[in-house]
Order: sequence, then structure tokens, then C-alpha cells
Amino acid sequence: MNCVSEITLKTISAENDFEDVLDLAERARDYVLLEVGHAPDRTYVQQFFEATPPDLGPECLMHFAVMQDSAIAGVICIADGYEFPEDWWLGLVLLDPAYRGRGIGKQALDLIKARAAAAGRQAVKLAVLDTNIRAKMFWAREGFDLHRLAPATPDSDGHDRIVLSFRIDTEEVGHETDR
Ligand SMILES: CC(C)(COP(=O)(O)OP(=O)(O)OC[C@H]1O[C@@H](n2cnc3c(N)ncnc32)[C@H](O)[C@@H]1OP(=O)(O)O)[C@@H](O)C(=O)NCCC(=O)NCCS
Repeated sequence: MNCVSEITLKTISAENDFEDVLDLAERARDYVLLEVGHAPDRTYVQQFFEATPPDLGPECLMHFAVMQDSAIAGVICIADGYEFPEDWWLGLVLLDPAYRGRGIGKQALDLIKARAAAAGRQAVKLAVLDTNIRAKMFWAREGFDLHRLAPATPDSDGHDRIVLSFRIDTEEVGHETDR
């Protein structure tokens, strides 16, 4: 089924949108269980808003709700400047299961790519769980290539991850920054 109406990205904050993100995480608990091994809770949402990549501060973080009309279909967290100054790092892309498989993820990603291009960034990167087969198919279809393997370490959460990268071509990503 195709998505009927266009989606937009709305900037969100812990101050104004914490409860809405918690509600979204509860609806998308299948992924939260896969990622952290327990149901979403307030700590999970706090981490969504506050967790920073190594060597970067909170000012690098951008948080968005994926809006379909007035409904929150999903949430996205991006770190500007990780792993390199010219990168945008997708910390989380999480859609409500009721909104998946309808092209909303692709639309949201196209908006992100366009915004990254407008900001002069050269790549969008992320780490996908090796066990997240459908997401791996999604990223591959959207043009993300293997950047490196990130296997579990004795100090990590036990997940093997795959770091993927999309090289931004400003000619191709279009002019979608006004949404
Ligand atoms: C991965 C995700 C962002 C993709 O967005 P989406 O709107 O469902 O994707 P689209 O509709 O644009 O494309 C559909 C494709 O996405 C993939 N996909 C990944 N997870 C999916 C899911 N749970 N349900 C439906 N499609 C999913 C499939 O390859 C699907 O293609 P197919 O219909 O040929 O099987 C979204 O499904 C999601 O939030 N999943 C759960 C959280 C997650 O895995 N996030 C990524 C972490 S790296």
C-alpha cells in the first residue's frame, strides 16, 4: 500500500514532546525490544533525547517527529558531525508499526538526505542491527552501502551492527528542505 499524503518532519524537544515520544516508543515496542531487550520506558526516551556520540556534545543532536497530517508516525534522531564533520549520523529512525511498509520511511529519508545536502554534509550514516533483516533491506534499497562492520565487544550491548553509508549527491537528492 502506498502512502496517501505527504509526510513532514517536525522538530521536537524533550521539554515539549517527551510524552509523545514515549507513546510512539510504546507503539513501536517491537523494535525497542529488539534493540534494548526490554519494553520502552522513560529512560529509553531520555536516551533518545540526550545520548551523544563519542566526543560530541548535545548541540550536535537534532530530533524530529515524522508527521502524517497531525499524527506522529515516527521519530528520528540525528547527530551532526559524527563520525566525521561532514557526516550526519542517524541515531534512530523508528516508525509506528501501523505506518510501516507504506513508503513513509522512504519519504522521511528523502527529506533527511535533502536537509543534509542543504547543510553541506557529504554522507548520511547509521548502524543497523545485524539481526534487523527488514531494516537492512530498506537501507540497501535506499542506496546505503556497507561502510564497516561493528561487531559486539565485551563492553557493548552484545549486538553485532553494520555501519552503512549513503554518499550525498547534491544533484540527486532534490530540493525538499522546505518541508
Ligand atoms: C525501517 C523503517 C524505518 C522503514 O520505513 P518504512 O516506511 O516501513 O519503509 P518503506 O515503506 O519506505 O519501505 C518498505 C520497506 O522497508 C523495509 N522494512 C523494514 N522494516 C519494516 C517493517 N517493520 N515493516 C514494513 N517494512 C519494513 C522492507 O524492506 C520494506 O520493503 P518490502 O515492502 O518490499 O518488504 C520502518 O519500517 C521502521 O521504523 N522499522 C522499525 C524500526 C527500525 O528497524 N528502524 C531502523 C533501525 S536501523
